[in-house]
Amino acid sequence: MGVLADSKADTNGMAIHLAPRGRAQRNGFPGVFTGELNDLAELFKLTLDSVYSGTIVCDKHSRILYMNRFYADLLGVDREEAVGRHIMDFFPSSRVPSVIDSGRAELGARCTLRAAIDLVVNRIPIKADGETIGVVLQTVFRSYTEVNELMKRLNSLEKRVVQYKRGLDSMLSATYTFDSIVGESKGIVEAKQLAEKYARTDAAVLIMGATGTGKELFAHSVHLASDRRDGPFVCVNCAAIPRDLLESELFGYEAGAFTGARQKGKAGKIELADRGTLFLDEIGDIPANAQAKLLRVLESKKIERLGGVKAVSVDFRLVAATHRDLKSMIKREEFREDLFYRVNTMTVEVPDLSAREEDIPLLVEHFLDAVSERRLYVSPEALSMLERYPWPGNVRELRSAVERAVTLADGVELEPAHFPTEIQGYAHNAVSVREKGVQSLAKSISTYEKEVLSKALAATGGNMSRTARLLGISRSTL
Ligand SMILES: Nc1ncnc2c1ncn2[C@@H]1O[C@H](COP(=O)(O)OP(=O)(O)OP(=O)(O)O)[C@@H](O)[C@H]1O
Ligand SMILES: [Mg+2]
Repeated sequence: MGVLADSKADTNGMAIHLAPRGRAQRNGFPGVFTGELNDLAELFKLTLDSVYSGTIVCDKHSRILYMNRFYADLLGVDREEAVGRHIMDFFPSSRVPSVIDSGRAELGARCTLRAAIDLVVNRIPIKADGETIGVVLQTVFRSYTEVNELMKRLNSLEKRVVQYKRGLDSMLSATYTFDSIVGESKGIVEAKQLAEKYARTDAAVLIMGATGTGKELFAHSVHLASDRRDGPFVCVNCAAIPRDLLESELFGYEAGAFTGARQKGKAGKIELADRGTLFLDEIGDIPANAQAKLLRVLESKKIERLGGVKAVSVDFRLVAATHRDLKSMIKREEFREDLFYRVNTMTVEVPDLSAREEDIPLLVEHFLDAVSERRLYVSPEALSMLERYPWPGNVRELRSAVERAVTLADGVELEPAHFPTEIQGYAHNAVSVREKGVQSLAKSISTYEKEVLSKALAATGGNMSRTARLLGISRSTL
């Protein structure tokens, strides 16, 4: 009979076309269901009953010609009785008649079947000789919840892909520039000026400073201010990689160099930095063997993978950072003196935060802007508490203290109580000393001014015009 076997998908919009009338049409509508059944038709019927989706076929008067088991179960009807009935007996607002009129398929449409069941369906016209002679209804999903679940999963996968991509990009590119380094203190301004000058040369730069002072920011900035800014910025944290893996990570390896080595071998981070910058963070943590190899690479600008025989040229600029005192490490024979002289030609020292107290309010404001869209203020008491604390963890510690305070504060003002107890405790102990101490008149006036301004801003919820009126000054003065 070949009715369904001859049907084909419409390439001009979705529709099912049947073979010419003479061959296909037997009992009015071409029927695998009403007339004689051959093996193929039986097979299709069984198939339609086995799939996990509903199928209903209607004729051009919207009468049901066929309903598969899935749909019958869903509707809770006897399908023998359903055949011949109008589709609207089951779906009062069915769009089958409109699809017959328009001849156009409706895909992924929402269809409500009683209050509890919400389906996603396709309505596809069946055409013969250009005329719509019926419609196939097909469920795509059993419910919108299923679609929503799928969309949610898709969205979360998409987000993960973006995250991984970003992670990958950030491994090979720098993100911070000198403008990202907040601070107007003499110490930080001089360090930035020096680093900017060094960036323009192609020599190795060593960035020194205690933990959390912003060494990584400087390394990124040097790369982006150099002629290599369009090349890769490859970062290796020498303290974070297990000692026995560091060499293969830095120098790469050839296939079969050691047990567990990848079949194809792997390029090392130094090779990846070709035409760019290699940032060796915590260079003081490189083990002795790797130090010797690194020195050879720096001198020859050639690299040999582990287990390899030939050396390849690499063109990279080294930026290194450390919080350790490399000179005393040399004395203890923990760091090679020759490597030290190789990397120590241009050094930038990033000062401790306690040595640049005046940067604290700027950094606090910067972090507040970064973490919260709310207009938040630090109360004068809290600010002077932050200015007095010695910050052993430097800017990183300040950043997490501010972030914590933001999550704890209910209003617009961050109070001392929102900050970690060690900071509060320190301020408490220091208060008696401060009470006895006398600060300059200018500093006292400016502290008082800050206090009045913060209070007024807090009282008006950050509204500049109202604050200015309240203080009796112009908005621009404010
Ligand atoms: N001047 C600055 N302006 C803005 N943010 C800063 C500044 N200095 C440091 N930070 C921020 O403080 C955190 C620590 O900075 P970074 O990672 O550069 O420190 P580090 O010196 O490399 O520390 P470690 O020695 O522990 O690796 C980061 O979140 C960084 O964005
Ligand atoms: Mg660092």
